[in-house]
Amino acid sequence: MDKFIINGNRKLSGEVRISGAKNAALPIMTASLLARGKTVLHNVPHLNDIKMMAHLLRVIGARIDFDGSTMTIDTTHCSYFEAPYELVSKMRASIYVLGPLLARFGQARVSFPGGCAIGTRPVDLHLKAMEQLGAKINLSHGYIIAQTDRLTGNRINFAKSSVGATANALMAAVLAEGDTLLENCAREPEISSLAVLLQQMGAQIKGIGTRILNIRGVKELHPVEATIIPDRIEAGTFLVAAAITNSTIKITNCCSEHLESPLEKLRNIGFNFILDNDAITINPGNIILPQNLQTTPYPGFPTDLQAQFMSLLTLAGGESRIEDTIFPDRFMHVAELNRLDADITVQGNTALIRGVKFLSGAPVMATDLRASAALVLAGLAAQGTTEISRIYHIDRGYERIEEKLVNLGAEIKRIQG
Ligand code: EPZ
Repeated sequence: MDKFIINGNRKLSGEVRISGAKNAALPIMTASLLARGKTVLHNVPHLNDIKMMAHLLRVIGARIDFDGSTMTIDTTHCSYFEAPYELVSKMRASIYVLGPLLARFGQARVSFPGGCAIGTRPVDLHLKAMEQLGAKINLSHGYIIAQTDRLTGNRINFAKSSVGATANALMAAVLAEGDTLLENCAREPEISSLAVLLQQMGAQIKGIGTRILNIRGVKELHPVEATIIPDRIEAGTFLVAAAITNSTIKITNCCSEHLESPLEKLRNIGFNFILDNDAITINPGNIILPQNLQTTPYPGFPTDLQAQFMSLLTLAGGESRIEDTIFPDRFMHVAELNRLDADITVQGNTALIRGVKFLSGAPVMATDLRASAALVLAGLAAQGTTEISRIYHIDRGYERIEEKLVNLGAEIKRIQG
């Protein structure tokens, strides 16, 4: 297994271009199943999760061409309506095929997603929404067996804000008979970009960007050409890379309005910014001030930046608290950060971070996607050498991260393992 070797305590400088958003591309790739023909997507990042989703769509019968950052998905010959265990067990987002397969083909057989390092990850809200739209759902031998003659519109009020359940319900409702009202929807930018794509395909959707989506089902949708929005989590990760090394860098091809909460927190911690229309320049702060954070659904502070901000706050001049209200167990990075001489304790869904003067490099192990990013950030700041094993986790969600960091002046290299 590959590992990273980082020689830390170096300043960064220069510019980094942010890639297309993994969490926008994944549902948009499955939305292509809703129309017969060729969907063309630009600014698609080369990530393991994207490759796995492309593999799943090929299993279903789509033909996929991925040239540079342009992906063409031809759904003309889809004929196998299953997401098998060996794929779903590696990538939970495979469940995004459930809504589109039911809506277009009236059937789906999706392996029941298990948990992962950040939590149990239930899918009850997805299944309840499909049943409310008229699907018959059975669970058998680890598979979700879903079928319907035709989905029918309904009123669905999500018990909690769920990105995945909102995406699946939206993709099912656009071809259902009649009207659907979705309430307490997730408002993440990735949901809005999915809804805009569906509108371009011919769907009738009102309320995009709000918690209430009104959908009028149509008979069929047509394939389109679209561009994936920038990855706000990658952008936030690079802002923390600059903050933790007290550097000035410029991140380009990003969307600052998708980062309002992380930017506000970084200002509170002592940094300031120059915002252009698609770029952000971060300037060093004199000291790192402690800060309490609570993750909440968008537009609140994103759980996907919780680990990265924790790395930064290990060097704050005082005590910080981070509460994760979305994934209460998302603290696998704490033990590894403490190996770098951080001083963090966890109680329930809250971490208490006592700032230390400096981190010291050591061998550590990546446990999940965002935890591995947090370890890279800590390694950039730590005195001495940090070796991060199991970095296949980071390859799921960051495109060429070591190349981008080297271009910013970091001393990081990948050792093929
Ligand atoms: C999406 O996961 C993202 N993944 C996650 O990013 C992100 O952390 C999460 O949203 C929250 O923003 C993708 O977009 C592919 P949820 P998702 O449904 O949809 C509970 C990353 O690092 N819930 O919004 O699975 C759930 O347990 C990944 O890129 C139910 O109870 O998250 C959680 O507490 C990690 N029942 C809360 O809702 C359900 O049926 C929010 O989860 C579904 C979810």
